[in-house]
Order: sequence, then structure tokens, then C-alpha cells
Amino acid sequence: MRKKIIAGNWKMNKTAAEAAAFAKEMADKVSGNNDVVFCVPFTSLAAVLDAVSGTNVAVGAQNMHFEESGAYTGEISAAMLTGLGVKYVIIGHSERRAYFGETDCIVNKKTKAALAAGLIPIVCVGETLVQRELGVTIEHVRMQVKGAFDGISADAAKGIVIAYEPIWAIGTGVTATAAQAEEACKAVRGVIAELYGNNIADTIRIQYGGSVTADNAAELFEQPNIDGGLVGGASLKSDFDKITNY
Ligand code: PGA
Repeated sequence: MRKKIIAGNWKMNKTAAEAAAFAKEMADKVSGNNDVVFCVPFTSLAAVLDAVSGTNVAVGAQNMHFEESGAYTGEISAAMLTGLGVKYVIIGHSERRAYFGETDCIVNKKTKAALAAGLIPIVCVGETLVQRELGVTIEHVRMQVKGAFDGISADAAKGIVIAYEPIWAIGTGVTATAAQAEEACKAVRGVIAELYGNNIADTIRIQYGGSVTADNAAELFEQPNIDGGLVGGASLKSDFDKITNY
């Protein structure tokens, strides 16, 4: 039985002070039924770690660099995150792929670097609307998963969380139907089974993301291959606990 994992992706929102206040208010309402993660901007990590300490909430970053250190102005390494007490990191979100040129190869390097540092990567995959309309969703998502997991051992692979996020559903208010989300998450689990066998495929957690709300979360999360969600807009609302505690 896989434990559900619900992560809030706050994106580029809130100052450190605003983030700490909101994190504290929300963390007090989060029950311990599911794993819950707040993925906050770098500048709010320390304040949010402090705000949620002693609660059921873990903290994640939204990105990191794949190198350990060096001349990479403006970048943050995995060790800088673990040094603060950060446990998770989102890798390859579609916004990073679209606006910051992240390729499957970069996603793979970042995933390996995160694992090496002891972070739990939340690796994002998902198709565009054009790809869905062309009928290549499953092919595309399979390719992204293979790219992200290239060269990663079975032992390391089982600790990775995968987020299936159709790009046309992100921030649009158009949620994938439970059947569409389940079909893609099942396909993702299928690739993991081909790469690592059924035991690892049964262990790995696969989230759905894209306009998850307090109203549609339960139906999505009850699908057999959906183990929780990566939630953007609704994670900044004061009823996010309805999703985390579903
Ligand atoms: P959304 O974002 O819930 O606002 O659609 C999800 C995400 O980008 O992870």
C-alpha cells in the first residue's frame, strides 16, 4: 500500500514573512494521514522550515542545479538545500522546461544530483495540448520518464516521486478527467516496471498535477495508479488542508 503524497508548489509567490505565516497556519491543519510537502521559493525555505518544524509537513525546493558547486552564478546546489533541512525538490517542472530550457538530459542530471545528496526528487512529466490531440501523450510521457531515469539504479529509483502533469491542465482550471489522469499514471508505472520490474513499479509514487482543487482531489487520488498530487494554485488557498487531509 503506497502512502499518498501531496505537495504544494507555491511557484514564485510570497515573501519569506508571508510564506512563514501561511505555512504555520496551514501546517497546524495538516493531519498525518498522507505525506505533505510545501515546495516554496528558495528565499522562503529557511523561514518555512522553521514555521513547520514539529508538524507533519516537510519542505521542498522547486529547482536546483546539478553541479555540486562552482561558477554558476545565481544557482543553488543540492547540498545547499539539504544543509538547510530541505527534504524534497521538484525537478523538470513544465514551467522550467518551457521558460528555462530544461531538457530531459538536464532533468536526468538534476535527478541524479538530488539523489546523491539525499533529496527526494519529484520529477515532472506531461504532454502539451497539441501532443494530446495528436494522440502521442503516452509515447511522450514514456520517453520523458526513460530520459529522467537513465542510468539510475533500481535502489535509487524507488525513492523518486513522479508527477504526471498535463501541461494543458496546469493553471488553466481545466483538470484532466480521472480516467485521463489514471491512464497516463498507469503508463508511467508501466515504464518503471519495464525498467526496474514490478516490485519497484508497485512501490514508486506517482502524483497527478494540473488544476487539482479541494473539489476534484478525492476522485483523482482514488484512482489505482494515482498516489497523490502536485498542487499549484490550490496550495496557496486557506482550504489546502481539504486536499492534504482528503
Ligand atoms: P496548478 O499547478 O495546480 O495551479 O494547475 C500545478 C503545478 O504546476 O504543479
